[in-house]
Amino acid sequence: MRMVDIIEKKRNGQELSTEEINFVIEGYTNETIPDYQVSALLMAIYFEGMSQSERADLTMAMVESGDQIDLSAIEGIKVDKHSTGGVGDTTTLILGPLVAAVGVPVAKMSGRGLGHTGGTIDKLEAVPGFHVELSSDEFTRLVNEEKLAVIGQSGNLTPADKKLYALRDVTATVNSIPLIASSIMSKKIAAGADAIVLDVKTGAGAFMKDEAQARELAEAMVKIGNNVGRQTMAVISDMSQPLGFAIGNALEVKEAIDTLKGEGPEDLTELCLVLGSHMVVLSEKAKTHEEARKMLEDAIDSGEALNRFKAFLKGQGGDASVVDDPAKLPQAEHKIELPAKSSGKVSRIIADNVGTAAMWLGAGRATKESEIDLAVGLMLKKKVGDEVKEGESLVTIYANDLSEVEKVKAKLYESIEVSSEGHAPALIVDQVTGQ
Ligand code: URA
Ligand code: CA
Repeated sequence: MRMVDIIEKKRNGQELSTEEINFVIEGYTNETIPDYQVSALLMAIYFEGMSQSERADLTMAMVESGDQIDLSAIEGIKVDKHSTGGVGDTTTLILGPLVAAVGVPVAKMSGRGLGHTGGTIDKLEAVPGFHVELSSDEFTRLVNEEKLAVIGQSGNLTPADKKLYALRDVTATVNSIPLIASSIMSKKIAAGADAIVLDVKTGAGAFMKDEAQARELAEAMVKIGNNVGRQTMAVISDMSQPLGFAIGNALEVKEAIDTLKGEGPEDLTELCLVLGSHMVVLSEKAKTHEEARKMLEDAIDSGEALNRFKAFLKGQGGDASVVDDPAKLPQAEHKIELPAKSSGKVSRIIADNVGTAAMWLGAGRATKESEIDLAVGLMLKKKVGDEVKEGESLVTIYANDLSEVEKVKAKLYESIEVSSEGHAPALIVDQVTGQ
């Protein structure tokens, strides 16, 4: 087989075989095929697209390029949730203990945040003592006993995807639905889940800002998952404004605790119930979404979801007393209010700009090497559609370094629009199933 023939075939709009795709991915991973030839192929894929079977083949070739997590020692159907990333997206912290409370095993591999989106591991590390360095035996034992554990990304998961993503980044080929869909799905499948619930965000704070594109990505990922034997469904949800009120690590842990107590923001609570119901049904702990939702609501009301969160923190070395005493979480030195300049209704809160403002305070990383400040961030006091009076606070800024605050305030004023009309956007835009 010759790489040049494969490039030509794709350039001419023909379908590549399983053997050809395996040849490319194996050759690129072990460096027998050079960057320039893979670059040419990526550009051909960018223009010609990929068939359903090519997408499934590419996904599985990337899965097989490195380690695969074996969750077979964990009892039950393992369901994973993946979000395409947003601002103030605290759902993983809540969903884990929530679905674990009704018996769904959650064996979660999570990452750190980059840019304006936060990472689950960073957030959890706001809990004193909490760590994600678990041996695979410990991980399995915790999931079997507590139904929930979180580990950091393993070193050699989907190395082909890492290399391809880096190459796409410098060859203007990131923005291709088949390439994005297989990239995301390869990581989820290598992480060992039997079933996958995807939360595809759309709007200013999302990777896919446009709804039609978000839908296309959701459909592509759902098809790949079901094609390779993992039950997969997707929820398309709004990320035009941040989710919930809190943006920042310790602040989001506090928000997760409130939500597990039944006292969380409405949008965050609803999204967790919707995603959670799908997880419960896929893991066959309930037959219908109504039944699943009722089980989750009961787990919140009874305190079982909150107890599960405490047990989970303790299991991984964390100080579970933060749940009853959130003042033990890292606290910022300064709290500064952002008063509304006029009365009216909040008509827009541009999520990515708000995420950037939080990053400037130190809540997120500008580069992989940046240190983050777990205490700082933003608490929205208003969401789109809320009424506001002149002088009333729109946001509380939690800061340690006052030198950034004026810049942050200016950015927030630019990002939050108050006018005569404002309507809350629909949270759940659509749902995509394999059927
Ligand atoms: N996120 C991924 O993991 N892969 C892509 O290709 C794009 C976004
Ligand atoms: Ca939030």
